[in-house]
Amino acid sequence: MTSFSSQVLLVTGGCGFIGSNFVRYWLSQHPQSRVVVYDKLTYAGRKENLADLWSDPRLKLVVGDIGDQALVRSTCQAEGIDLIVNFAAETHVDQSILGPLVFTDTNVRGTHVLLEVARELGIRLHHISTDEVYGHIPDLHQSVETDELAPRSPYAASKAAADQLVQAYAITYGIPVTITRGANNVGPYQYPEKAVPLFSTNAILGEPLPVYGDGQQMRDYAHVYDHCTGIEAVLLRGKIGEVYNVGTGREMTNLEMVDIVLETLGKSHDLVRHVTDRPGHDRRYSMNVDKLRALGWQPKYDPRQAVAEAAKWYEGNREWWEPIRSGQFREYYNAQYAERLAGSKQ
Ligand code: NAD
Ligand code: DAU
Repeated sequence: MTSFSSQVLLVTGGCGFIGSNFVRYWLSQHPQSRVVVYDKLTYAGRKENLADLWSDPRLKLVVGDIGDQALVRSTCQAEGIDLIVNFAAETHVDQSILGPLVFTDTNVRGTHVLLEVARELGIRLHHISTDEVYGHIPDLHQSVETDELAPRSPYAASKAAADQLVQAYAITYGIPVTITRGANNVGPYQYPEKAVPLFSTNAILGEPLPVYGDGQQMRDYAHVYDHCTGIEAVLLRGKIGEVYNVGTGREMTNLEMVDIVLETLGKSHDLVRHVTDRPGHDRRYSMNVDKLRALGWQPKYDPRQAVAEAAKWYEGNREWWEPIRSGQFREYYNAQYAERLAGSKQ
């Protein structure tokens, strides 16, 4: 164990999908560590994602916006934070197309505020980024960490801007930072606006699966557990100032992903509907993860297993997603899909 085991982490966005998986994983592996979750509890942030852990004295929740500099600063001072891990973000590409400004507020300005507090208080900051910053990747290429950033959606552009601020702060002020760029994560507690939980829950309910365009877009569907171990590897053994890709390094088409979901849940392919494509839809993401492997990390799940495990989780945890799907989610779903599904084909 390294010195991190006894440290105090501020995990922003810790009530979201990946953040909550990370908090659970981290506390299980680092018993001497404390975690302060700092979360605005947007529609995607759910206290119940950590329901089993709130009674643990090593865990605390502060409800707040990462853009609130005074609250971030006072929390870090009061809790003796020595490491900020920034998961907090607006994260859904389709939402960024419907309402982009909040993506700049949180993903760009919010990250900037965290950097300012980290600079002021001398705290290490680890920033969670995404393969989407590389943009659409032509066949045969795999993104490496030094590739140029070429984001193509408001979400991806806001994440790329944040990455560049983090790197600029390291160069200008010498603050200790690291960045991980994750592939498409799947697994427990992912909000059902995202494709794998949306398709899994729709299939369970016998509702149509809205596949954008021809469904031949390629993604690296990686299990969230492997993202958490990848982040841990960088926190413990990564080089300060560096960027690391985190994924399986293997892609599949969305239609292949849909087949795995339907097969796992024993549902018919007749549920698939091809609907109007996402504007600017990136055709392919693909990352080279050798730099992370060189730290001794390797993924536990291949993409097929990751998608199947995720689908099974939604099958076994209806009490988690049914209340979500019956709430404000419905309004979003109708705005996003009603017209598309009306004009869809099998
Ligand atoms: P999520 O949408 O499930 O959760 C985001 C969390 O951030 C929520 O708890 C939300 O309440 C919180 N939040 C949002 N705005 C905030 C603000 N202004 N202040 C404080 N908290 C705020 O997201 P996720 O899928 O878990 O993604 C987490 C991080 O990982 C993001 O930075 C995302 O860009 C990145 N990422 C996600 C994926 C993926 O496949 N989901 C892949 C690679 C990288
Ligand atoms: O690649 C990492 C990114 O993965 C993260 O940075 C984002 O936060 C996360 O949301 C995810 O972005 P995507 O846009 O790739 O994920 P999403 O689950 O929305 O879509 C996965 C693929 O499925 C994508 O090609 C679009 C397609 N899709 C999605 C939805 C919601 C459909 O065909 N139909 C749908 O209804």
